[in-house]
Amino acid sequence: DQDLEGELGIDTVKQAEIMAEIRDRFRLPVDEDFVLADHPTLNHFTAYIVKMQGGAEPTTTVATPEAEPSVSPQDSDEQRVSHQAGTRRWQVEIEACPGIASPLNVSGTVVVSDDGWGIAEAFCQRMEARGLHAVRVGFESRIRDASRHDEGGRTVYRADPEQPEHLAWIADQLKGTTIGGMVHMAPLKLASEEWLEDAYPSSQIALAGHGWFGLLKELGGRMPADDAGFIASVTSMDGRHGNLGDRFNAVQCAASGITKSYAFERPDLRCRALDLHPEFVLDEAEAAKRIEDDVFGLAGEVEIGLDRDGRRWALVAFAEDVVDEAKPLTGKDTWLVSGGGSGVTAASIIGVAGASLNAGAHFELLGRSKLIEATSSWIDWSEDQLKEEKNALRGRLIEASESGKVTMVEWNDAWQKFTRSRDVYLTLDAIEQTGNHAAYHSVDVMDQIALQELGSSLGRPITGIVHGAGLEDSKLVADKGYEVFDRVVRVKVDGWRALLSAVVASGPHLPEFACCFTSVAGRFGNGGQTDYAAANSVLDAEMARLTATKECRAVAIGWTGWRDVGMATRGSIEAVFAAAGIETLAVEDGVSIFVAEALQGGKRRVLGCGSLGQMDTFSSFREAPLKLPAQMAATIADPSRFPFVDKVLSLDEGVHLMTQTTLSTADHPFLLDHAIEGVPYHPGVMALEMFAQSSLLLQPTTCLAGFEEVSFGLPVKLLKGPMTVRVDAVVERTEDDMTWVRCRLISDLANSKGEVFGEREHHEALVRLVEKREDLRPFLHREVEALPSIGTPPVGELIHPASFIYDRYFHGPRFQSHGGVLRGVGDAQQPGIDGLALMRHQLPATDQFAVEQDGEGVLLEALPMLIEAGFQNAGLVAMEVLGYSSLPVGIAWSTMLRVPEAEEVLRLRTLQTDSLEDGTTVHDVLVVGEDDAPVLALKGLRLKAMANVDDGQRFALER
Ligand SMILES: NC(=O)c1ccc[n+]([C@@H]2O[C@H](COP(=O)([O-])OP(=O)(O)OC[C@H]3O[C@@H](n4cnc5c(N)ncnc54)[C@H](OP(=O)(O)O)[C@@H]3O)[C@@H](O)[C@H]2O)c1
Repeated sequence: DQDLEGELGIDTVKQAEIMAEIRDRFRLPVDEDFVLADHPTLNHFTAYIVKMQGGAEPTTTVATPEAEPSVSPQDSDEQRVSHQAGTRRWQVEIEACPGIASPLNVSGTVVVSDDGWGIAEAFCQRMEARGLHAVRVGFESRIRDASRHDEGGRTVYRADPEQPEHLAWIADQLKGTTIGGMVHMAPLKLASEEWLEDAYPSSQIALAGHGWFGLLKELGGRMPADDAGFIASVTSMDGRHGNLGDRFNAVQCAASGITKSYAFERPDLRCRALDLHPEFVLDEAEAAKRIEDDVFGLAGEVEIGLDRDGRRWALVAFAEDVVDEAKPLTGKDTWLVSGGGSGVTAASIIGVAGASLNAGAHFELLGRSKLIEATSSWIDWSEDQLKEEKNALRGRLIEASESGKVTMVEWNDAWQKFTRSRDVYLTLDAIEQTGNHAAYHSVDVMDQIALQELGSSLGRPITGIVHGAGLEDSKLVADKGYEVFDRVVRVKVDGWRALLSAVVASGPHLPEFACCFTSVAGRFGNGGQTDYAAANSVLDAEMARLTATKECRAVAIGWTGWRDVGMATRGSIEAVFAAAGIETLAVEDGVSIFVAEALQGGKRRVLGCGSLGQMDTFSSFREAPLKLPAQMAATIADPSRFPFVDKVLSLDEGVHLMTQTTLSTADHPFLLDHAIEGVPYHPGVMALEMFAQSSLLLQPTTCLAGFEEVSFGLPVKLLKGPMTVRVDAVVERTEDDMTWVRCRLISDLANSKGEVFGEREHHEALVRLVEKREDLRPFLHREVEALPSIGTPPVGELIHPASFIYDRYFHGPRFQSHGGVLRGVGDAQQPGIDGLALMRHQLPATDQFAVEQDGEGVLLEALPMLIEAGFQNAGLVAMEVLGYSSLPVGIAWSTMLRVPEAEEVLRLRTLQTDSLEDGTTVHDVLVVGEDDAPVLALKGLRLKAMANVDDGQRFALER
């Protein structure tokens, strides 16, 4: 019946792990109401197991959570939606994705393509350590022959990714070998190369795309469906699949598109498209380990970004509208539109022209179809007239054929030339009708020279690109030809480069606006569409990158299938969509999404879709982020304000607020200097700062007065990397100009599989707020009256420097806010110490937050380092008088009277007012400025003894 933490020394993290283990072993359901603090002893644990297994209610004082039916972590996330509510715009963003622990046991040979940084070889060695066999494939563009080499005992095949014979040769060499897994690291070769340095047509795309397609095509069948196997592709853009950075090569993404699609073709395999933070590339051993840990350790999402600090990211889509005012095009605009003569792109461009009435803007439309002049007069023809003409065409074809016959296919193909031409005339006419100009150029978008000539011949700078040209030819990898793969990829990828070179030839180095028509198949992958998804994934990432450079506003719109117009209306695609539960898009809805993107500030990656049925394997759609009052949204967006509020989870204005922050040593380096035995502990004073920030957000017309009823409970420890915590803030009462907000710091309890089964509460406090008024004197008067009566520490010389203190304390330079001991004060009943207190900018190291390392300022509300100086000073008293090291457990009351001047030298006094049997000591604290005026005070600071001080560190001050 001993207390697990207090008496047995089993800390809460370990307790949570034990409970997770118990849950597994006894097959207990996930229980969201489980509170660890309610189960302090093993007896409580036993009673809980009995209860959750349906046994008799024990007679102990165990809390009695209601058993919940088992829910998956997905179900418990209130933001996930399975959207059946029609088609709309979605913005693609990243979201933390811890993954689900699930070890993979593979046998056979692992094939790894070379990355050029040594990661592939390091990975091969790790595979061997697992008892697997490993070979490497070195892809090199434009080599004549494939070859086999021995590199330090490793078999390496060299091949040109664009030559199918080379890939077939590798497959032949590996004949009879069972493949356990394949990892395509060749895209990493592009991590240090720019797309603009690429050859034309692109050879980079072959490295990222063709080589991977070839390996899967030739060797995919050697991965037995009845055995565990995996495939993974690795890129290095920004560690977030391009959603953040502006300096990466988006061509790498072709590999991710293929992996995502292959995941649909081979659901029996574990498939992962990893994007490494660029710093990993320089550390091959670490990179290889992270890749292995991810692929062999975690199940779940395919597309994952790996951050340098251990975080994993998935891409999700938020229901979000564009909000800028519409800015119609003007006479200065010239847009180059591939695929703009017909199909959904034409419909979209007509929409933009219609929203820019009489603007005199120019649209240069591109397509391969040649115009047949006669069709210009067919614009107003009825269906019957067209039918008649089609029949007449059949007669002419029969007449011209030697056999005197014509097949349906020949007839339809011939007729399509006329209808395409008529479509183009219809588009030109519709645009002209809006008071804008349109011209059609019969040119292949991949013909870079022709496009450059077009650009320079216009005599006007091209201000916009819309890349709508695209081909689609669905076939599973095993059945898809290399030539089809190449064509589908290049129309989009090389086409984009050629369009850009037309812009350059027309004058500017980038257009002001760019839009690529991409697809949900690129975002999520789709069976049969490895090529299409590869190309669209590249364009998606490139549009995000261009926007991040701020030189061009670029958006990729990943469309679902459009109804009535375009490629999805052909063949049986509509039936396939219906069977898979994929909602299609009405033309008018698609057009209005495009018009809004183009004219109302759309950017980065967007989706235009509704329910995606089976395509949305990992429930990637989210409700719109919470709509916050404008002032609150602006305050949070300012990086210097409220650094402990990553996002607002819920808000009842003026009443309740729940905020969330992910604490990490990368974003919060102060944690490194508040670590015990290497484990960062989130300092109590920073928890108070978090409380202050959330309270001030909830009550924006107030300022911070101080705290009451502070209780520091379970410490927040970063045992396994970053940790997400929440602040729950509720207004408790208001009296005159004062408001009290009850705040709690909470985190989730999760088992080893990442399933959340309860929450734990760490710290709690009442935050005291005062209304901002011209005349704060009545408030200040009350506060001064309430200050502890412990006298004012006089100015003096240090008797012990700061190093004396930090010889005894664990705090590193970012947390050393004690400037040295001035003197001992008080008497045997009420001993105390005077010392110096340092503000944040006076610390030995001032970069407490990562943004401060980049020269940004961060404003904190609660003067946490002065409170910390109070803790440390009081701790010194306990250390001296009782011989204990102690930690703060509570504060009865505190006030903050003013923000000191930047250069002010602050003095502090703490006096021990009580010493309890259980080792708790109680202290009052006062910090004063150079004019002796009080800055901050604490009453009833309680410290709890944790350990005896070593004899060598004992000291005694004169009083
Ligand atoms: N329709 C949909 O449901 C849907 C869904 C998702 C994504 N998308 C994307 O939206 C875009 C337009 O699709 P769509 O349905 O309108 O397709 P579409 O009806 O097949 O039209 C494609 C257009 O691109 C042109 N084009 C194709 N290859 C070209 C080349 N090499 N050079 C110049 N022009 C070329 C075609 O004109 P020519 O034949 O005269 O060359 C045609 O105007 C595509 O990029 C597609 O990937 C469409």
